[in-house]
Amino acid sequence: MAVIIAYLIQYTLQPTSNKCTRFKELGRTQNNVFRVKKMLYLNRRCFGCVRCSQKQVNPRQLVGLPKSVDWSQEQLNRDENNDTKTLPCARSLIISEPWLNKRFVVLGIETSCDDTGVAIVDSSGRILGETRVGQEAIHSKWGGVVPALARDAHDEAITRCIDGCLKQANLSVSQLDAIAVTMGPGLELCLRVGFESGRNVAASYHLPFVSIHHLEAHCLMARLFFEDITFPFLNVLVSGGHCQLILCKGVGEFLVLGGTLDDAMGEAYDKVARLLGLASGGGGGALVEQLAKDGNADAFHLPVPMSKTKDMNFSFAGLKTAVSLLVRDLGGTEILKECPQLRSDVAASFQKVCYLHLHEKTQRALEWCIENEKNTKYLVLSGGVARNESIRSCCQQLAEKFRLQFAVAPPEWCTDNGVMTAWAGIERLRLGIQDDMKEIDVQARWPIGKFYQGLQ
Ligand code: KG4
Ligand code: ZN
Repeated sequence: MAVIIAYLIQYTLQPTSNKCTRFKELGRTQNNVFRVKKMLYLNRRCFGCVRCSQKQVNPRQLVGLPKSVDWSQEQLNRDENNDTKTLPCARSLIISEPWLNKRFVVLGIETSCDDTGVAIVDSSGRILGETRVGQEAIHSKWGGVVPALARDAHDEAITRCIDGCLKQANLSVSQLDAIAVTMGPGLELCLRVGFESGRNVAASYHLPFVSIHHLEAHCLMARLFFEDITFPFLNVLVSGGHCQLILCKGVGEFLVLGGTLDDAMGEAYDKVARLLGLASGGGGGALVEQLAKDGNADAFHLPVPMSKTKDMNFSFAGLKTAVSLLVRDLGGTEILKECPQLRSDVAASFQKVCYLHLHEKTQRALEWCIENEKNTKYLVLSGGVARNESIRSCCQQLAEKFRLQFAVAPPEWCTDNGVMTAWAGIERLRLGIQDDMKEIDVQARWPIGKFYQGLQ
């Protein structure tokens, strides 16, 4: 019956734009209608329906929608005693025997933003196959990631990526032991492509399915390359959507010591790339870093954010504004494009402030760890911005100062990729954690753990 209703609605409403409040309301009140909504998403890629709005949404309006979990959402997740519990999410966990003594092979799928990443990794951490398709060319003319275009590009690439990966690994699907898929946080439309493909493969071959939290995958990635990283460790996560200091206590057990109050560091790099006239779809950070190499970091004074507050939080909105005012005062983006030295000086001055801001807040987190988590042996850096040499050296120096080991994945595995998803799947399966595909759904917003409340 539910299926018939789903199809009736699907063909009468003709989804077109993503502003469908009606569906959201129905979904909230009736569980079975919520399922109908999900089917619409899957089958027709519903962005809304004509009953609510006839208008097509201009993709430009959707650029830059947050992929991160916003602050207020995460505050909801605070609890009284700072306890960390297993990663909170709407998932139904199946705890089986830990997969400890056997070798197993996992296919990982990552489609949370603008990189289609697929990889096959074995339980010893060997990468047997990996494919990636980026979307720079698609988004660059919009100046940011457009979710609907990103979704289409994932859709177009995903089967090719899975097949290519299997070929590289010289394996057939039946030789895989499990499928791990990034289920959030991220762009919902994009997450769905990965979920649908992973679910189809897992269902067709009766393979266990593991739901992966994107930030957990970033945090755990270094353990693939550095086998002796034990819990707890302090993870500095700097990416396009997140900027957090996370105490990793175990798989699924995280305490967020600090996060960003507004934008992420990668987002600031991307914005500065646009202000400097560098072509960038979703990721201009590497281009800014390149420019900064020839610049004078003391050429312009930009304020270091939140240096007077004692907490471990970040803020990049003010810095973004300061750079945009500076660019305006220097004559604007087009003029700057003709003054390479000036442009490099702006990039270097901006990068210096990122360094100082990260240094200050990470130092506070390390002091907190020395005080409260004496067993912390590693400082780990992860996320796309971890590719940046100045950010790497910032964390390296801090680790040395606090007599900790420093770990960061090789640059090519800092940005989003399928290996990190497969590896997080391996970490979960080792503990016997899987998920029931029929009971879970993607989560665009999904806090990684509890927020530390000690320093307000
Ligand atoms: O982890 P990631 O691939 O995606 C998210 O989970 O957000 O990170 C992408 C971010 C982009 O903002 C990109 O500009 C930034 O990482 N990024 C860099 C560098 N390489 C990538 N930022 C600064 N310097 C780099 N070399
Ligand atoms: Zn990421």
